Amino acid sequence: MEVPCVAVPRVDGEQTRQALATAGVLSKQYQIVHEDGTLYIPVVDPTAVPPEFETTTRELPPRQTIQAPADILGFEPSLERLGDVVIVDEDDSERAREIAQAVIESDLPARSVLNRASKIKGELRVRDWELLAERTDSDTEVDRSPTETVHREYGHEFLLDLDAVYFSPRLATERHRVVEQIQPGERVVDMFAGVGPFAIPAASRGADVVAVDLNETAIEYLRENAERNNVSDRITPITGDIREVAADYHGWADRLVMNLPHSANEFVETAVDLAGEECVIHYYDIQHDSEPFGPGIETIRAAAEPAYEVTVETEHVVRSYAPHEVNVCLDVRLSRR
Ligand SMILES: C[S@@+](CC[C@H](N)C(=O)[O-])C[C@H]1O[C@@H](n2cnc3c(N)ncnc32)[C@H](O)[C@@H]1O
Repeated sequence: MEVPCVAVPRVDGEQTRQALATAGVLSKQYQIVHEDGTLYIPVVDPTAVPPEFETTTRELPPRQTIQAPADILGFEPSLERLGDVVIVDEDDSERAREIAQAVIESDLPARSVLNRASKIKGELRVRDWELLAERTDSDTEVDRSPTETVHREYGHEFLLDLDAVYFSPRLATERHRVVEQIQPGERVVDMFAGVGPFAIPAASRGADVVAVDLNETAIEYLRENAERNNVSDRITPITGDIREVAADYHGWADRLVMNLPHSANEFVETAVDLAGEECVIHYYDIQHDSEPFGPGIETIRAAAEPAYEVTVETEHVVRSYAPHEVNVCLDVRLSRR
């Protein structure tokens, strides 16, 4: 089986292995392989590997001593990992508990196993969780609630509590796509910042970032995450409604991130108010797959024209959201006429 791994010269092997273990991405499920002076070190998540390492894929033999949940269950469960929290994707509660027990008994580095107990709700976009199982051995005892964890993504780490804030690891690639467009010195407003997964990498690229969220707890985590990632000096975290905060940043932004897909259309006037002479908006939306981009483009044109020329630079499907519904992103440039 092709496995994601980091390829390094053999002389750098031990140092690299230790760095990957410290970053929490070293996979214990496969053996490290040496070939022609290069070591191939398996990793659990290539997107979370620190950027100084080159990732690749190759055939690696499994380590016989490692026991996966599937080895215990006899079937492959659908699981999502967020740091040391494992999320089970299962409607049948008995089956969910069976899977959770297998996760805890396996060699997966899991501290707690959760199941979704509600849909994402309300203005703060938070859901309820059911705690299915928890590991209690002394190796993993840390002073954190079972819903709090540290997630690593493209060389950054984010402390967050799923019970109190919105977070989705499924958007990692999309966030990286946006962040890669940012140039040093840009002025960025993350209008719905959460715990900072756009704002913090943007600041790492040298942008000056204003990060706003209605959820006070999310902003507390964002502040902590800015410190963890050494970008506190480039980020202004603000708890509040972006519609009110915008008054202090009129005409300020070179770039806006609008990740509130169910109601972004209600905030387009605010976005235009924040926009400087030239401004790129990353506008997230959820629409029917028969016309995924049209409604967003129309809304932005209606708010920004004729004061701005509106150019749609990218129409991008991020992921399928529900049957016939897609989560999309429009990258739109506003240029003052
Ligand atoms: C879908 S989440 C996105 C969070 C973050 N950008 C991410 O990718 O993880 C939307 C966020 O917008 C915040 N929010 C909702 N209404 C808001 C408003 N009027 N002003 C500022 N933030 C708001 C919610 O609290 C939530 O954290």
